[in-house]
This record gives sequence, structure tokens and C-alpha cells, in this order.
Amino acid sequence: MGIRFGGDYNPEQWPEEVWAEDLELMKAARVTMVTAGIFSWAKVEPRPGQWDFDWFDRVMDGLAGAGIAVCLATMTASPPPWLTRAHPEILPEGPDGQRRWPGGRQHYCPSSPVYRAHAVRLVERLAARYAGHPALALWHIGNEYGCHTRQCFCDVSAEDFRRWLRARYGSVEALNAAWSTAFWSQGYGDFAEVLPPRTAPTFPNPAQQLDYLRFGDEALRACYLAEKAVLDRLTPGVPVTTNLMPQHKPVDAFAWSAHMDVMALDFYQDPHVPDDHLRAGYAFDLMRAARSGQPWLLLEQAPGAVNWRPRNGPKPPGAMRLWSWQAVAQGADAVLFFQWRQSLGGAEKFHSAMLPHGGTDTRIFREVTALGRELASVPGIEGTRSRAGVALLSDWPSWWALELDSKPSTALDHSRIALDHYRPLFEAGVACDVVPPQRDLSGYRLVLVPNLYLLTARDAARLAAYVRAGGRLVVSFFSGIVDEHDRVHPGGCPAPLRELLGLWVEEFWPLAAGRSVAVGDGVYTGRADLWSEALVLEGAEALARFTDGDLAGRPALTRHRYGRGEVWYLATRPEPALLRALLDDVREAAGVAPVLPGLPAGVQATVREGAGGRYLFLLNHGAAPVEVALPGPMRDVLARGAEGGDRAPAGRRITLAARGVAVLTAA
Ligand code: GAL
Repeated sequence: MGIRFGGDYNPEQWPEEVWAEDLELMKAARVTMVTAGIFSWAKVEPRPGQWDFDWFDRVMDGLAGAGIAVCLATMTASPPPWLTRAHPEILPEGPDGQRRWPGGRQHYCPSSPVYRAHAVRLVERLAARYAGHPALALWHIGNEYGCHTRQCFCDVSAEDFRRWLRARYGSVEALNAAWSTAFWSQGYGDFAEVLPPRTAPTFPNPAQQLDYLRFGDEALRACYLAEKAVLDRLTPGVPVTTNLMPQHKPVDAFAWSAHMDVMALDFYQDPHVPDDHLRAGYAFDLMRAARSGQPWLLLEQAPGAVNWRPRNGPKPPGAMRLWSWQAVAQGADAVLFFQWRQSLGGAEKFHSAMLPHGGTDTRIFREVTALGRELASVPGIEGTRSRAGVALLSDWPSWWALELDSKPSTALDHSRIALDHYRPLFEAGVACDVVPPQRDLSGYRLVLVPNLYLLTARDAARLAAYVRAGGRLVVSFFSGIVDEHDRVHPGGCPAPLRELLGLWVEEFWPLAAGRSVAVGDGVYTGRADLWSEALVLEGAEALARFTDGDLAGRPALTRHRYGRGEVWYLATRPEPALLRALLDDVREAAGVAPVLPGLPAGVQATVREGAGGRYLFLLNHGAAPVEVALPGPMRDVLARGAEGGDRAPAGRRITLAARGVAVLTAA
């Protein structure tokens, strides 16, 4: 089957005469899979209960005839106008009570029973009709849940929230305790008094906001699950997925992963951001690790420019190939795009497509075709896996709680802090899994905790057990502060980690914007910014201290031996070189080697292995050619005639062109 290659296919935007050409050109581009039907609801059900699937039958049959598999969308992402006219109550509302009107897409309240019932009705039709169809390979539910409507605050949602709270807390007394409602006279006498955290004169109750984020995620998931139940019943055996977005706050990818047969991601690297491949790397490592290393699908990326950033940079020659291979290098078994044929009308007419307005005699179509051919030329990668010695912990509830208002600093940004810690690993060529704190960590030699503001006593105990058994742990500032209700753990912050870290935090000392402090007094010297803490050591040793600023003389970086392991603690955000130096040393202490030692700057290295072979991927994200030393004589499987292939390795060295890619196997 190989690595799947293709894109979103929206034939309803085109007269049928064009479809035959689509199929011919798809074959020429070696397309093997398309995602079809995402926005087809209004066309398959033009009037309530009046179905027109005939045209879609022809699409499916044509694709099957061309040997192209279909990732079939459930068509529920954009309700048709007749539905919102008949039921305006399905339209979502913002926290300010403002209704979001139709005219775009995703204009439905996730809690709406009316929306869900109509969606399920449609999916029943669809699944019954295409069960057993030769083209049907995979189901794609909805589209990018929470992309536009992240949360809804309408009365229907309010009622659903109360139901959710009753199930979670059982009694209004328990709710009052969890939400600390003694503060600001918020005590509830009845669940009926509870509302979503709508726009209030000042900070709404943080525990209420946190629960609303949990509830919002579950409401979206309930839509997904309602459709999935139909698919599992009518087409058992056909895998089901949905396209997640990277670092997407409203949707807890780890919670969703349990309900997805295969993980799938949309990722749009920004050509104007020189190191956006790092953000991609993090998202890809999370996708792969979410289902314990199972290959995942890149369901959307752009062949060139997008249309939705303020300035939309095209992908320069080679970037689309490089970033596609990056996904494969990090565990993807599919490289799909948005979209096959560039629209002439609508909001996305300036979004690039595999087949641009200019047709086949275009740079983009040539690059697309070359990539399709290249992917088809390398069977065997599909299904192979990567092994990581390092885990980086990430947690949606902690992210949600961290970025609520009324904190020591609003400058703490979960994704940014996570990437700060991910960067030195990525740059050193160290394989890393991004996993939730509940994951079994015993197989990892090193665990990084960039920031876990919210940490339950139970998860803290698991971290301690990991270190006690010999694990190496790095914890950064403002971690282990609150419980699942955003209540400070009593006993001196970070109470549940205090014994493990061998220290406590007397005061948080966030730094002013643009301000940095010197850190030094030992091996680790440099500058740090954003945040600092007044630590009191209770067994940990200081590896570096603040050497200027208000906390001069106090520890900035500590180490504590605990059980058979060791834990490092960072009380500030070190500049990248300093963090890299620390993590290099910690990695060495933990015995974690990079995939390839001495990687030149800008080169990414990963390994996938399995029944199909062992592949070393080298990707040059830099703009100049670079030479890389190999562990032994190797063969570049892409160099065999693939257009734009890099020079075959000469002995134990390989030259990667600017944006070059090599996929190496033992010679
Ligand atoms: C995604 C979406 C696609 C298309 C694409 C454009 O967010 O799923 O339908 O809009 O963006 O980049």
C-alpha cells in the first residue's frame, strides 16, 4: 500500500466534466488516497430528508475505478442553510451572548441535540450506502473539531453543562467545594443557578472556567462519538479518525486518541517562520506518541501558500517535499494536502492546491507529481516505528489552567515553554515522545516536565516513583502548584513535588517584559528571562544561581538525588544555549544517545524500523548544502532516479542539498 498520498477532494465545486480529468491527473500524480465529502451536506441533502447521493456514487465509483482509496468524510462539518433556518437554536453563541451566524462553517453548538440528531441521521444514510464500497478505506468524522467554534455559551450548552456537572460532582455542595465558591459570594444553592463562564465584570471563577474547558472538549467529543457509534455499527472494520489540529487548545488530543483508530493531523508550516519545522516536529512527536508509536496520518498540509494568515508565504522550491518527508520521518504513513484542485470561488480561492489555477504546467504540480512518484518508489516505510528514550510531558488540563487569568504572570504560554524544552532535543537529533503525565514512564531514560502547573497528587506520586526507581527527571518552574480544581496544594509550593525536588518555592518572582537576569556561578552560565522563583533548598544542591537582579545569590538550577534516580529543577527560563548545555549533560547522565552524533546545525535525523526495514531519515532544514557523517556505509533509497533526489552517499558521508532529504538504509 505504501505511504498514502493525496488530498481533500471537493468535486461538488466543479462540473462533472472536470471529474474525469481529475482522475487522470490524480493517477499521473500517483495519488493513492483522497478525503472526499467534507463539505457535501447541502448537496447530498438539499432539502430536509430529500437525499441525493447519485452524484456522490459517481465520485466514489470513479475513484474506485482509478484505484484511489477514499477517506470518506461524514459531511457534518457545515450544516446546510435549511437546517439553521428551521432550527436557529443550533447556532453557537460566544461568551458575550453574541450569536455566530451561518455563512461560514462549523456554525453549530456542539451540545445541540438537534444538530447531533441531524448529523447522526446523515451518517446513518452515508454509512449504509457506502458500506462495502471498494473505495472506502477510512472514515473521517467532522472536520477539525473546535477550529472555529471552540466553545459555545448558549442556553442549550448551559443546560448540558449542568448535566455534566451533576454527573461529575453529584451534589451542589461538592461543586461549591471544588469551585472554591466561598470566595466572592459565589455559593450555589442549586445546579439550576450555574451558568457557563460568560463575560463577567471581572475574572470569572477559575475552577468554573477550567471545568468549562473540560466540558467544551467533551461536548465536541460527544459529537464525534455519536457519529462513530453509527460507523462502528454499520461498517465494522473500517477505521475511523478525525483530523486534529496541532497544539489545539480546545481539543485534548490525548483524551481523543483513545477513540481514534488512527491519529490524524493537519499541519500548515509557515514558510515565513524560519524554524516552524520545530513546531511541526513537536506536533508530529505528539501524534506518534499519543497512540504509543502507532503510525499516524498527515491529513492536510498546503502544497504552497495558505489564505488565512495575514501574509501568506508560498513554499519555496523543495520545502513542500522536505516538510512532507519530515512527517514521514516522524512516523506518518500518509501525506495528504488541502486540497486537490484549487477553488475558483469561495473563501479559499487563494489557498494553494495540488492542481493550481494555472493547471499542470506549474511548479506546484510538478513538485506534487515528483513527490507522489518518490513516495511510491519507497515501499516498506509504512508501518515502521520509532523508539524514543526521552519523554516530554504535556497535559491539556494543566495548559487550560495555566493560561487562565489572574496569575503571577500572564506571559506563561504552555506551547512556548514546551517548545523551549523540545528544541534542544530536536536539534541534537534525540528521539522524543510527547506524552501525558498518566503514561507509563518506566521505559524512558529521561522525562522532561516543561511546566505542569496543574498536577494531581496522584500524578506527582507517579513522577516520584519513576525517579525513585532510577529515572532522570527535569522539572521546570511553576509546576505542581494546583490540583484538578485549580486549588493551590497546601504545604508550600510545589507541595506534591517538594520531597522529590528537595526544595520549595518561597515566592514567585516573574520578570518584567524584556527583562533578563544573569545565571551562573558554576558550569552553567548565561542569561534567563520570563520568570524566576525564590527557592529554599531542602536537600537539593544548587548547580547555578542568579547572579544579579532581586534574587541574586539564590539558586536558579538545582539537582536532587532521589532514590536511585535524579531530578533537576529550573527556577527560570534559561536562554536556548544554556538550556541546551544543561539538557545535553542530563541526557548523557541518563545514557540517551542522539540518533546520529554531531549533527550539523539545521539537520534533523530520525529512525523508523520494523518489518519493512530500518530507515535513517536525514532532513536539511537549512538553506545551504551540508555534509553529514554516517555511522557506516549506507544507501539513499531516494537517490535512485527520483527527481530532485540528493547525491548518493559516497562511503560514510552524504551531502544534503539545501532543503535536501535522504532516506538511508544499510548498504
Ligand atoms: C483546514 C481545513 C480545510 C481548509 C484548510 C485551509 O483548517 O480543515 O477545510 O480550510 O484548513 O488551510
